[in-house]
Amino acid sequence: MKILLTGGAGFIGSHTATVLIEKGYEIVILDDFSNSKPGAVARLEQIVGREIALEHVDLCEKTAVEDVFSRHKIDCVLHFAGLKAVGESVEKPLLYYENNLVGTLNLLHVMADMGVKKFVFSSSATVYDSRNPVPFMEEHSIGPVNPYGWTKSMIEQILLDLSASDPEWAVTLLRYFNPIGAHPSGLIGEDPQGIPNNLVPYVAKVAAGQLATIHIWGDDYDTPDGTGVRDYIHVMDLARGHLLAVEYLKTHKGCKVFNLGTGKGYSVKEVISAYEKACGKSLPAQIDARRAGDLATVYANVDLAEKELGFTAELGIEQMCADSWNWQKKSLVFDE
Ligand code: UD1
Repeated sequence: MKILLTGGAGFIGSHTATVLIEKGYEIVILDDFSNSKPGAVARLEQIVGREIALEHVDLCEKTAVEDVFSRHKIDCVLHFAGLKAVGESVEKPLLYYENNLVGTLNLLHVMADMGVKKFVFSSSATVYDSRNPVPFMEEHSIGPVNPYGWTKSMIEQILLDLSASDPEWAVTLLRYFNPIGAHPSGLIGEDPQGIPNNLVPYVAKVAAGQLATIHIWGDDYDTPDGTGVRDYIHVMDLARGHLLAVEYLKTHKGCKVFNLGTGKGYSVKEVISAYEKACGKSLPAQIDARRAGDLATVYANVDLAEKELGFTAELGIEQMCADSWNWQKKSLVFDE
């Protein structure tokens, strides 16, 4: 089975690639390198010990996408590619809607034309209406609050409608919670451009001495220690979730939604102290005002993924921080 990974040079795509190759799948990576580097694919090749087919293509260029499908006999697509910075999406909504929606529509058109109808979509817990009680369940209502979240939810709807129109489609919508950590080799990991928005990449840079102080966005939430609680999931567990989704699609048609998280929440302070343990030093942190749009507590109900996909997250917060730190230290020497 040959699998196309759009955005396969990125954080989640590259880790998923290692798991798929290890299981014997053939893969093709398609990426426009707008938020990733060809060097990541070279290091991925080092991990798996073989060459990987790589297509430098922007999904918004439909003829280039057609060309990829005409040259590779693709059986299934894992669609990671997309712009994902929440703040930027608020400032540049047209860019987000255009890139994420047009790219996905081109991809789906070409797939339909070529008769390729297995699809795994990288969705996000951000699609849930925040008024739902935690833990969030797949049947809970949708209510994104920013353009990034809307693109995810609109693409989910497109895929639901497409599957309803043609029973040959087999689709899974994977709603990720907070993916962190890195490959145990330390050769690939999350590599955000500029100052990170997300907690763990920020903490990693403070640990590495590249940023001065962690900013804790609020300690007056209604949580045990007052700081925000999230469901962090190790990216290698998440990668395995994609493998299970691919296997599920072999026997299940239609469109199915799954949460991918651990079902457990950790506070900002707990994450910082796990990271301090991983890097062996105490990290400077200060309390600042709440970040607009943040919720007190978000975690997943993971029963459905366990029951239908056989997925359970195995790696805990200590391993997530240890692998993040291992990658952070090593990545300082990658010059690309
Ligand atoms: C964020 C996005 C979400 C996206 C997800 C991807 C927002 C509002 N949400 O989720 O749409 O799908 O990333 O992983 O941006 N925090 C700090 N200091 C920091 C950074 C974060 O205290 O420097 C806190 C936050 O207030 C939150 C927790 O750490 O309580 C996690 O934040 P973050 O890593 O940005 O993830 P989310 O906000 O859950």
